[in-house]
Amino acid sequence: MRLSIKMYLIIFISASVILYQYHLSNAWLISQNSQEFHVLNPKTNEKLRNVSLFNITSSISNSTRPTTPCFQELEDVLPPLYVITPTYRRPEQLAELTRLSHTLMLVKNVFWIVVEDATSKTPLVGELLKKTGLKYEHLIAPMPEQYRKKKKGPKPRGVSNRNRGLQWIRQNAKTGVLYFADDDNTYDLQLFAEIRYTKRVSMFPVGLITKLGVSSPIVRNGRFSGFYDGWVAGRKFPVDMAGFAVSVEFLLKRPKALMPFKPGFEEDGFLKSLEPFEPQDIELLASNCTKILVWHTQTKKNEPSQPLDFAKYNNTNLVMLKQILV
Ligand code: UGA
Ligand code: MN
Repeated sequence: MRLSIKMYLIIFISASVILYQYHLSNAWLISQNSQEFHVLNPKTNEKLRNVSLFNITSSISNSTRPTTPCFQELEDVLPPLYVITPTYRRPEQLAELTRLSHTLMLVKNVFWIVVEDATSKTPLVGELLKKTGLKYEHLIAPMPEQYRKKKKGPKPRGVSNRNRGLQWIRQNAKTGVLYFADDDNTYDLQLFAEIRYTKRVSMFPVGLITKLGVSSPIVRNGRFSGFYDGWVAGRKFPVDMAGFAVSVEFLLKRPKALMPFKPGFEEDGFLKSLEPFEPQDIELLASNCTKILVWHTQTKKNEPSQPLDFAKYNNTNLVMLKQILV
């Protein structure tokens, strides 16, 4: 009899301790959330607090990305990021797009505008896009014949694609930020977090450019003081395509802004077409351009795959694999 009273006492004390701890942890969560969101207005604050608590609980029960309305509300308070990616059919295309899509799947409120330099959409690219669950637009914009036929010298790669992307933005976007992301570069997630708040044009270093190894604005005493780039060639903005982002509102106020079909001068031509805009107006990102958040990686060119001996391999998996390859 005495023993069971003792046991009741132990159970009662344990339950009290657990309840008290639970109360403490709730109070802690709420105080953490109010600290985190104190800079926002009360309505947004409330939304974020709900979402944050939702994320904490959902991450316990479900490790996949939540898609409930609650999570979308959080996405809606972030300025949208419009990522324009030119791409074209070649042996590496699906590999490059797979890699880039997996990066973008980790970015919130992103809209991927994939523009193929082709006369018709590649079905496999369409399938890849669908699979990502991202918000996207699949467009085509072939390089004009006069440039494609060019035998000598470099071609204006990705220009018709990017201009098509700009046209789509003019027709469909009102706010947010646009970024030209070639399919073969490497992007740090921090880059997307930083460019999202671009007011006019932001710039940042790009690694693996020319023999210098980097292309970047030069920052002296915290201020812009020129460009460091291995190929200046009289350009007003000697930067790489991956080295800047533009506010959509800023772009919309410049209806003539476009990229020229001028190999090597695409970035410069486009940035100049954003006038009035001077190098002094640049917003410097990546901790005053001391970090590299994007790399100009280049994939080794692969030869197109050799023809398949259909007589020998008919009725095998190789027939299907061959359909994927270029
Ligand atoms: C460098 C710059 O980083 C590019 O931003 C610039 O467009 C290019 O030079 C140029 O001016 O020619 P690079 O790595 O040499 O880039 O060029 P690619 O990666 O081969 O092409 C740039 C983008 O255009 C890629 O996204 C690629 O998929 C696309 N592209 C390339 C086409 O859509 N069509 C083509 O025929 C070739
Ligand atoms: Mn490239």
